Amino acid sequence: MAITNTLYTNDNLFVLTGLNSELVDLIYLDPPFNSKRIYSAPVGSKAAGSSFKDMWTWQDVNEAYLESLIDKYPALVRFIMQIQQVHSKGMMAYITYMTQRLIEMHRVLKPTGSLYLHCDPTASHYLKVVLDAIFGKENFRNEIVWCYSTATTPYIKQFPRNTDIIYWYSKSKIWTFNKDKIRVPYKGGAPHGGTKWLKEGETLEEWREQQGNLGKIPFSWWADIYKVGKHESTGYPTQKPLALLNRIILASSNPGDLVLDPFAGCATTCVSAQHLSRKWIGIDIEAQATKILMDRLTEASGEMFKDFVHRTDAPIRTDVVMEAPSLSIKERLYQAQAGRCNGCTTQFDIQHFEIDHIIPRAKGGGDYYENYQLLCGHCNRTKGDRPMEYLRQKIKAREAVLAQLSFGE
Ligand SMILES: C[S@@+](CC[C@H](N)C(=O)[O-])C[C@H]1O[C@@H](n2cnc3c(N)ncnc32)[C@H](O)[C@@H]1O
Ligand SMILES: [Zn+2]
Repeated sequence: MAITNTLYTNDNLFVLTGLNSELVDLIYLDPPFNSKRIYSAPVGSKAAGSSFKDMWTWQDVNEAYLESLIDKYPALVRFIMQIQQVHSKGMMAYITYMTQRLIEMHRVLKPTGSLYLHCDPTASHYLKVVLDAIFGKENFRNEIVWCYSTATTPYIKQFPRNTDIIYWYSKSKIWTFNKDKIRVPYKGGAPHGGTKWLKEGETLEEWREQQGNLGKIPFSWWADIYKVGKHESTGYPTQKPLALLNRIILASSNPGDLVLDPFAGCATTCVSAQHLSRKWIGIDIEAQATKILMDRLTEASGEMFKDFVHRTDAPIRTDVVMEAPSLSIKERLYQAQAGRCNGCTTQFDIQHFEIDHIIPRAKGGGDYYENYQLLCGHCNRTKGDRPMEYLRQKIKAREAVLAQLSFGE
């Protein structure tokens, strides 16, 4: 798959499932946090007109999807099912939604790649468990705490919150960490014979020359990056500072590498990647991102920025042959199901069965063997484009009616 800088306007699930495996060097994602808010950009700002929903209901996610994970991630499915007891059904829906996408992100990462997930305390503890299950706890690298200067909510009966969490996971034991690209001056004191904090107006290079040392690798809490200031603001709600993305991209990728942001917002990651000579793919469900990206890069370079492609469709994987339903698949399924319908469990001859997508195609289910099942004509019509749970409930209800009838006989 040849890589051109691309911004997709689409649900990232459809784009992610269409990308080849082991394609990307670095993923940064800043998804909605399940904060039960609808964000909107102020009128008159570059991002005016855009808004996104940050609320989840069980209808937003695919119930059948959780079922399809049971074989590969049994513990993770059990964990997600418990969330509705510990927290709420809305949180379970959000975590299912994120799991579906994080599994795809893990697949598209190169073996040497890294993922940075930006979140806040609303769901961070659940997301870390999901990441442990998908990436492996041994590939957890850091919990970065981004301390921004201002507090989000002016509490008077508890400590005002002014931190976000960024989880860094590598895909394997081999990962990129360019420590010398992200060093910062020593603050005050004298860890190396009297080095001093950067003076006002002094560049990092001047400081290094003056002090005769490169500075230190930043700790995992970052208090030197401020929230987006006026000079940088596009007005996009939840815009993250370029300095934050610059540090992550410099640390965990090299020039020419491919950086992906599946929740691109006003395309901060793409802008940072472009400045740092990385290739990039951005995805956002909102169309606004494209215009803001062009404006930001045009402003930075002083000429119209056109060096990217904008797509509203989804890519198609070229590293697998998608299996279309065929007779041989039908026979394989017939054997696997021992001649029984996956809905009503009645035994039929093969010609009475129809091939069904377990996860409907309309909800992101693909054309591959694991997503097929055989249903009798009646069950298939009942299920239609809905998840299996719907069919099961219909069958249960029908059985209850039949039981009552036979009781009355
Ligand atoms: C917290 S914002 C990202 C902000 C971004 N880091 C920036 O600096 O501008 C989350 C973004 O995710 C987008 N989004 C939500 N659900 C999505 C989905 N399923 N696919 C793609 N984008 C989605 C929203 O439109 C929103 O722009
Ligand atoms: Zn049936």
